[in-house]
Amino acid sequence: MKILVTGGAGFLGSFLVDKLLERGHEVVVLDDVSSGGEDKILHHFKNLRFRFVRDSILNREIVDNLISQCDQVYHLAGVVGVHHYVINPYAVLNVNVNGTQLVLQLAHKYNKKVCFASTSEIYGRSAKIPYSENDDRVLGSTAIDRWCYSTSKAIGEHFCFAYKKLGLSMSIVRYFNVYGPRMDRLDTGRVVTIFLGQILQGKPVTIIGDGNQTRCFTYVDDAVEGTIKAMETEKAEGEVFNIGSNREISMLELAKRMTQLSKSSSSVRFVSQREVYGDSYEDIQRRVPDIRKAEKTLGFKATTELDEGLKRTIAWFKENG
Ligand SMILES: NC(=O)c1ccc[n+]([C@@H]2O[C@H](COP(=O)([O-])OP(=O)(O)OC[C@H]3O[C@@H](n4cnc5c(N)ncnc54)[C@H](O)[C@@H]3O)[C@@H](O)[C@H]2O)c1
Repeated sequence: MKILVTGGAGFLGSFLVDKLLERGHEVVVLDDVSSGGEDKILHHFKNLRFRFVRDSILNREIVDNLISQCDQVYHLAGVVGVHHYVINPYAVLNVNVNGTQLVLQLAHKYNKKVCFASTSEIYGRSAKIPYSENDDRVLGSTAIDRWCYSTSKAIGEHFCFAYKKLGLSMSIVRYFNVYGPRMDRLDTGRVVTIFLGQILQGKPVTIIGDGNQTRCFTYVDDAVEGTIKAMETEKAEGEVFNIGSNREISMLELAKRMTQLSKSSSSVRFVSQREVYGDSYEDIQRRVPDIRKAEKTLGFKATTELDEGLKRTIAWFKENG
C-alpha cells in the first residue's frame, strides 16, 4: 500500500515510518520539520519506497495532491509539548484544529482511511482513574493556556466522528506519555528528556511540585504497534483507543530510576510550577489508561518494561544526544 504519514519526521512518526517500510509499504512523509527533523528519517532517503515532502499540513494544494495518491493516512502532524502550549498556543490551535480539519476533509473527499493521533490530555484533570475511552473530559479555564492542546485534539476527534457520519473511515489513538530514542533534544520538551538532559550533564534533576504526580510511560515500539493495529483491525473502524502502558510511576520515582539506570550521581531539586511555567500551566496529578478496549478489540498490550525502555532510551541519548 501507499501510505501517507503526516508528522513522519517527528519522534513517533519516524518509528511508524520505519515499521511501515519494514512491512513492505510505500511511505510518503509530509512534515514541515517545525519540531521534528530530517535526521529522524535520513536513513530512508535512499529507499525507493520512501518519499519526504517538506511542507505543512495547512497547505491545501499539497495535502490534496498527496492524499489523492495514497491508500491510507496516519495523521500525526501536530504541535505538541508543554513548552508549546505555554509559549505558542496559537500554533497549537491553528495546526491541530485547522490542519486536522484539512487532512480529514481531503481524506473524506478521496475516500481514504485515517488514523488520527490524539492524546491522554483529552481527559484533562479528571479524577476518575483509570481513564476509559468514553469518560468525561474535565478541563480548567480557557485563561490557562495548557488546556488549548487538549481542546485542539478533542476538536480533531470531533471532526473524525463528524466525518465518520459523512462516510469517512477512521480510527483514533490516544497516546499516554510515549518515550524512546529520537525524542526532542535533550533537556527541552518532555519529562523523560528534561530529566535525561540534567542527568547526563551531572546537574540536579528538577522536579516540579512535590514529585508525587504520576504518569504511565509507553515505549515507542509499543505505541507504534498499537497505532498500526488501530488502522488495520476491522473492528477498530470508527473507534477510539487508549494506547499506553498502565504501569504508573511518580515523577520522583522516575527521576530516581533514571539517575540509577544512567549510573549518575545527580541529586533532585524541587521547584514550583509557577517558577517554571508562570500562570499558564496547571499540572495533572494522575494519569492512567484503562487498557481493556485496546486489549479486547486490537489484541494490543504494551509489553516493554519501563526499565528496559529507559535503558534503551538512555543508551541512545548517550550516543546521539
Ligand atoms: N509522544 C507522546 O507522548 C504523545 C502523546 C500524545 C499524543 N501525541 C501525538 O502524537 C503525534 C506525534 O507526536 P510526537 O511525540 O512524535 O511529536 P513530534 O513533535 O516529534 O512530532 C510532530 C511532528 O509534526 C510536525 N508538524 C508540526 N506542525 C506541522 C505542520 N503544520 N505541517 C506538517 N508537519 C507538522 C513536526 O515537525 C513533527 O515532526 C502528535 O500529533 C501528538 O500530538 C504524542
